[in-house]
Order: sequence, then C-alpha cells, then structure tokens
Amino acid sequence: MRLGILSVFGALLLPALVSAQLSGHVGPTTTRDAKRSKKVCNVLDYGGVASKTSDIGPPIASAFAACKTGGTVYIPPGDYGMSTWVSLNSGTGWALQLDGIIYRVGTDGGNMIVIDKGSDFEMYSSTSKGAIQAYGYVFHADQKYGARILRLDSVKDFSIHDIALVDAPAFHLVLDTCSNGELYNMIIRGGNEGGLDGIDIWGSNIHVHDVEVSNKDECVTVKSPASNMLIENIYCNWSGGCAMGSLGSGTDISNIIYRNIYTANSNQMYMLKSNGGSGTVKNCQFSNFIGHSNAYTLDLNAFWSSEKVQTGSGVQYSNITFDNWKGTCSDGTKRAPMNVICPADVPCTGITITDFEVWTESGSSVLWKCENAFGTGGCLDSGDVKTYSAVSTIKAAPSGYNIPKMADDLTSLPLTESIPIPPIPTTFFPGATPATTLLGTR
Ligand SMILES: *[C@@H]1O[C@H](CO)[C@@H](O)[C@H](O)[C@H]1NC(C)=O
Ligand SMILES: *[C@@H]1O[C@H](CO)[C@@H](O)[C@H](O)[C@H]1NC(C)=O
Repeated sequence: MRLGILSVFGALLLPALVSAQLSGHVGPTTTRDAKRSKKVCNVLDYGGVASKTSDIGPPIASAFAACKTGGTVYIPPGDYGMSTWVSLNSGTGWALQLDGIIYRVGTDGGNMIVIDKGSDFEMYSSTSKGAIQAYGYVFHADQKYGARILRLDSVKDFSIHDIALVDAPAFHLVLDTCSNGELYNMIIRGGNEGGLDGIDIWGSNIHVHDVEVSNKDECVTVKSPASNMLIENIYCNWSGGCAMGSLGSGTDISNIIYRNIYTANSNQMYMLKSNGGSGTVKNCQFSNFIGHSNAYTLDLNAFWSSEKVQTGSGVQYSNITFDNWKGTCSDGTKRAPMNVICPADVPCTGITITDFEVWTESGSSVLWKCENAFGTGGCLDSGDVKTYSAVSTIKAAPSGYNIPKMADDLTSLPLTESIPIPPIPTTFFPGATPATTLLGTR
C-alpha cells in the first residue's frame, strides 16, 4: 500500500524532474474521464446537425453554457459547417471533445473559436481524427486573408492534442498569455505563403511536443513576454521555420528550450528577430536541430529588416546556447548558415555555438557571419572587444552534416486549391517516438 502511494507520487513527479525547464505541472488538472462522468453536453442535443452546411457555432455556445462549470462539450464524429464564430469564456474543469470535422462556412474575420480565460481545459479528439478545415484557399486565391482558427487567451492548466488544423485563412493557433499548458500530437497544414502562422505562443510554463507544421510562415514561434517553455520533437515540413519574435520594446523572454527540431524546405531553422527595441532574451538553448533545403539556418538578427525599427537601442541577447546542428542549407554563400548580428551598443553576450555541422546544397563553401556577438564557437569573439565584424569562409564539408531526412518531406503546398486533412503523424523527429500514443490508436 505504502509502495503503491510512493509509485503514484513517482509517476506524477517524473515529468517535472525530466523537464526541469518547465516551472511546474502542465496540462489540465482533472482527467477526461472525470469530466465526462460529471456531464456530457453533446452538440446534437443543443441544436447541432451533422451536415457540412449546418452552423455548429450556436450549438457549441449553448453546449458550452451547460458544461462550463465542469463537463465535456462533445462534437460526435460527422461533418459540421460553421458560420458563426464562438467565444467560450471562463470555463473551468471542461473539455472540448472534437471527434467530428468542422468546415468553415462563414466569411467573417476574427477567430473561429476563442477560449477566453478559465482553467483546467482540454481540447482533443478521442479518435485522433477531429479537425477544423478552414478552406483558407478561397481567400488566398483572391490574395486575401480571413479568420484565424483557434485562439486561447489567458487560459491556465490546459492541453490541446490529437487534432488537425487545416488551411487557416490567417493564423492557425495562438496562445496569448497562457500558462501551464501542453500541446502535442497535432498537425497543422496551411497554404504556401506568409501570414498563415502555425503556432504562436507567449506566456509561461508551456510544453509543446510532437507537432508538425506546414505553411511557409511561423512553425512554432515564441513571442514576448515568455518564460519556461520546452518545445521539442517538432517537424517543420515546408514552413517558415521556428522563431522568436518579432521582438520590440520591453522584450522579456527567458528560460526557453527548443530541442529535436527537424526543418525542411523552410525559410530558416531558427531565427531570433528584432530591429531596435529593448529588454532581454536570456537563458535559452537550441539543441539537436536537423535541417535540409532551408534558406537561413541559425539566424540571430538584431537588424531584421522586415520589422520596422522599434524604440530602444536594441534587445539584449545573453546566455544563449546553440548545440548540435546538422544538415544542409540551400546555398551557404548566398545566406550564411551561421549569422549572429548584434548592435555595437548592445552586444550579444554569453553565446555558445557547439557541434555546428551544416553544409550547403549548392556551391562548395559556406559563410559564417558574426557582428558584436561574444562567447565561444563559430565566428563568435571570445574577447571583450566592443565592436567587431567577422566573416569566415568554410571550405570543407563538416564530418557530421550528412544526416537522414524524414521519410516524406513535403515538396510543395497548394495555395489556390483545397488542402486535404492529413492524418496525425506518428513521428516528428528522426528516430524519436512521440511521448504519448495517439488516442485513436490505443
Ligand atoms: C544560462 O541558461 C541556462 C539555461 O539555458 C541556465 O541553466 C543557466 O543557469 C544560465 N546561466 C546563467 C549564468 O544565468
Ligand atoms: C510531410 O508532408 C508530405 C506531403 O504532404 C506528407 O506526404 C508527409 O507524410 C509529411 N510527413 C510526415 C512525417 O507526416
């Protein structure tokens, strides 16, 4: 009996110990079963009709009103249209079980689904087949944008998993000022242009793992303010790539780890982006990155010209480690795979680059560019010279660059025709097994 209690404690404590990066428990505080046994609010009992031309918005809002103090809003398998967007406010101890597929019908801007405030929330599909198909291509074919799909605003103790978000007219998933959250076993697939962000996050204590994003813009990106985030086993399969930013005045980011990040056919493997601004980015690690056919690779750019100059003499980057980066970039002289560019007035300090083995797919050399960046490795300066600029030309392929690709890297993404809903993958990084089995295959 005593041992039983100890092992229960052991099981609860283990994830916290393994992920020291996080500052505490992540995810809902009560189980799916507990929520279902408290109450099930099936949208079909609140006016919902399983038809692609119905409007599931009002039935979701009514089912939520009946279950918001504890229970499960259930969308059974089937196809549902959605023309009225919903904002589900201040729910506690509730779940949104999306076993059906919601198809966007309405053309309003804004967000199709907002979860606002509240705590102990779980959004999932028990079959791993639930999805939101937002048919963004209808807008994109006309050079327009439309609604974002899903936004959580100031939600605590939550998870989202086992669902697909497809073809957003604008962003796919935003976590605004959320805490103690977990995202996993998800696929996001959007059109091939900017402005269709995959996952944008700010807040604290969030674990993102086992996620694939295709969209030609942000893959999994952290914005300010943010602290204590662990982002791992991410597959950017034809995307913009993962990033931090854009950063401006009063930036406050610390204790962020990205690891096991696989990026193919993207703009970058990782970019930290600012232009002027103030505040700090500190105590971050970027480990075990693999990439192929990306334009940029490791890019810390404090003069990022796509952002207009922000008030302040520069964001202070300090104590940042890049370790074990492998693979190839598209053209290593056109865009330096190592690019660490900091202002002379606000130099980057405590930067470490180790085991950086990235080669080029065209030409026979790569450039490493550093400016006012201090620390160890690569073209960083280990001294305390106030101002410097260095470009190294690397002419020999590093021994470890030739690293396996994922089996099925995307080679194109449509913009003017519908994007099919993909199944959720069962691997997101070469050799890595997702931490949690898909619910639909248990
Ligand atoms: C540097 O950052 C790491 C996390 O990446 C942290 O563990 C370490 O304590 C930091 N060092 C200092 C001197 O703050
Ligand atoms: C990457 O995208 C391609 C094209 O859609 C797809 O066939 C492949 O399965 C994706 N990779 C994974 C691991 O899901």
